[in-house]
Amino acid sequence: MYCIRNVTEDLYWVGANDRRLALFEGVYDVPQGVSYNSYLLTDDKTVLFDTVDHAVQDVFFENIRHVLAGRALDYIVITHMEPDHSSALHKLLTMYPDATVVCSAKAKTMIAQFFETLEFNSIVVDESSVLETGKHKFNFLAAPMIHWPEVLMAYEPSSGILFSADAFGHFGALNGALFADEVDFVAEYMNEARRYYCNIVGKYGAQVQALFKKLADRTVNMICPLHGFVWRKNIETILDKYALWSTYRPEERSVLIAYASVYGNTANAADYVASRLFENGIRAYVYDVSVTSASEIIAAAFKCSHFVFASTTYNNGIFVSMENLLHDIVAHNIQNRTVGFIQNGSWAPTSAKLMRELLSQCKNIDFIEEAVSIRSALKEKQQEELDTFTNVLISLLQN
Ligand code: FEO
Repeated sequence: MYCIRNVTEDLYWVGANDRRLALFEGVYDVPQGVSYNSYLLTDDKTVLFDTVDHAVQDVFFENIRHVLAGRALDYIVITHMEPDHSSALHKLLTMYPDATVVCSAKAKTMIAQFFETLEFNSIVVDESSVLETGKHKFNFLAAPMIHWPEVLMAYEPSSGILFSADAFGHFGALNGALFADEVDFVAEYMNEARRYYCNIVGKYGAQVQALFKKLADRTVNMICPLHGFVWRKNIETILDKYALWSTYRPEERSVLIAYASVYGNTANAADYVASRLFENGIRAYVYDVSVTSASEIIAAAFKCSHFVFASTTYNNGIFVSMENLLHDIVAHNIQNRTVGFIQNGSWAPTSAKLMRELLSQCKNIDFIEEAVSIRSALKEKQQEELDTFTNVLISLLQN
């Protein structure tokens, strides 16, 4: 049975949800599922914007069949060739062999890479191209690395609809709602939008800024992303967040405290610092890096202005889950933060120095010079040292 929704009078959401996927891209947990959005326009020409992951292709094909109602499928616009949006393309083209694929040159190369034997009609387009479909005319905006190099967003000037590929999407299935204004997006979905952006696109802030420049002289009334809700109202809710995230500016003056603790003693120090922060009216977020997924902590890193990393020393290095997290933070290009360290070691504590060396690869990081050093377990005689560290952090946050 088909399951569709109208986006506009002649544009339909024909995508599908996957609530069984354990790890998106094999890395990111998606406990609330994920949607793969595809849109079908029924103008004089029929135009499908992207396909879906093959895991959900059966309902997707039913959706297309229903909306077409016997009409031919004229164009398939590919804005992004990552397989979560394109793995149903091969079968789709066997069902609609006369359809013409409209895509960037790089996307065409990727189609051949993914589907070696596939033969298909194609039109290669770029930013100078116009696709006329009847009432509508589409332009294209190259958006390399949002989230792959071949991305070519589609824009319809008369309606102001932007087909934004991965941009402005979020993790989480669409549970009947299609538009962000049908739910309390900020309360219910912003965390998953942040986790999605920061982990998928976070490294490519400069490219997102380049996209904003291209959009500056265009009116955007509606955003149709490949995951998550369509934006038709209060679009600035998501645009404003992207403006912050892509320039690596924190959303809050708050503290991310991430710790790696084998026997709870380093956790004790993390909790002590968090308690003092809250006593001083400062928001802190505490994570055990061995328990909370890295994607969650990366998202918190994009949100918070200040970080405290607390790690036991392990094999004369940083505890493995903390080392992995810090590599991930460096890989995601985090910038413009203030960072302090707490180390633990029963005979040779070295993790603070090593964590600092790792994070020194990031741009515009201020370090709190004095790290707290614990020998095995935190003792009351160290309270002054810990309070001094926390007071430095508080004074930085209150300035
Ligand atoms: Fe949703 Fe980059 O694919």
